[in-house]
Amino acid sequence: MVNMMPARAENTWKVTYPEDCIKYIEAFRRHYWDHQGTCKLLHEFFSQQGNVHSVCELGSGAGTNLIYLDDYGYQCFGYDSNQESIVLSQRRAESNEKNIEFNLLDFSKNLPNCQFNAVVSLFVPISLEDMEKLAQSCLQILKPGGYFACMLLAVLPEFEAIPEHNVTNTEFLEVDGTSVIRFNYYKKSGDQIQYDGVYFAGESQGPRMFQDRDRYDLLTKEQMLKIADTGYRHIYRTRIQGKPDQCPPMTYEVIDFFQKN
Ligand SMILES: C[S@@+](CC[C@H](N)C(=O)[O-])C[C@H]1O[C@@H](n2cnc3c(N)ncnc32)[C@H](O)[C@@H]1O
Repeated sequence: MVNMMPARAENTWKVTYPEDCIKYIEAFRRHYWDHQGTCKLLHEFFSQQGNVHSVCELGSGAGTNLIYLDDYGYQCFGYDSNQESIVLSQRRAESNEKNIEFNLLDFSKNLPNCQFNAVVSLFVPISLEDMEKLAQSCLQILKPGGYFACMLLAVLPEFEAIPEHNVTNTEFLEVDGTSVIRFNYYKKSGDQIQYDGVYFAGESQGPRMFQDRDRYDLLTKEQMLKIADTGYRHIYRTRIQGKPDQCPPMTYEVIDFFQKN
């Protein structure tokens, strides 16, 4: 009997997913998120800078972004704390004939033991405070003049002044022959959204249910991570257009690019 509820350690946003569920969660990500468009934006920025050869993704999930970034010719390295995601990404890299290194690592505790031209955090829901800490610690794994790029969620202006708001919706996907329904609950409370996703998968052994859960800190339009003047300078912010239902209701995504001084 597998545990169906995601676990969350005290004082952290980190979710430990139920066993053997990543294949479904990850299929929803790939279906609803524009990984390809996001990587194109990264490439447009990096190629303008002209000196980016190696890219490290922290929280690389099933490796989808790095497979696109590899297509642009970057030497790619992915790190994730979820074992199932690492196995999945290694398998996918192999079947796509990609030479991408994926390793198990919890970036809140350790960082890779080498340096890169760019470190990226894409679609990783950690608090703004934790993202600031992560950026700070990434200075040690960035080569001189290297870039830290992170995706953040901003609140749509029309929801800025609304203190409480709930949105629910339902999505359906066929994942490797299994029908999966996901019920999404988004609860805005001040400058945070609490997300609960309940999955029903019609597996051949019988229906299976499990839950995903996240929290999102929301930026206002002008708000920045507080990391400028601390070893970085902010270079550029771009808004992600993405697919129609890519980001949580009431929000839009941005990528901020910082350069190590
Ligand atoms: C929503 S997924 C996005 C995955 C990938 N970036 C993508 O765009 O498909 C977030 C990922 O971050 C990973 N993650 C969250 N906290 C982490 C940590 N402290 N160390 C390593 N990985 C982490 C999770 O395991 C998950 O795979």
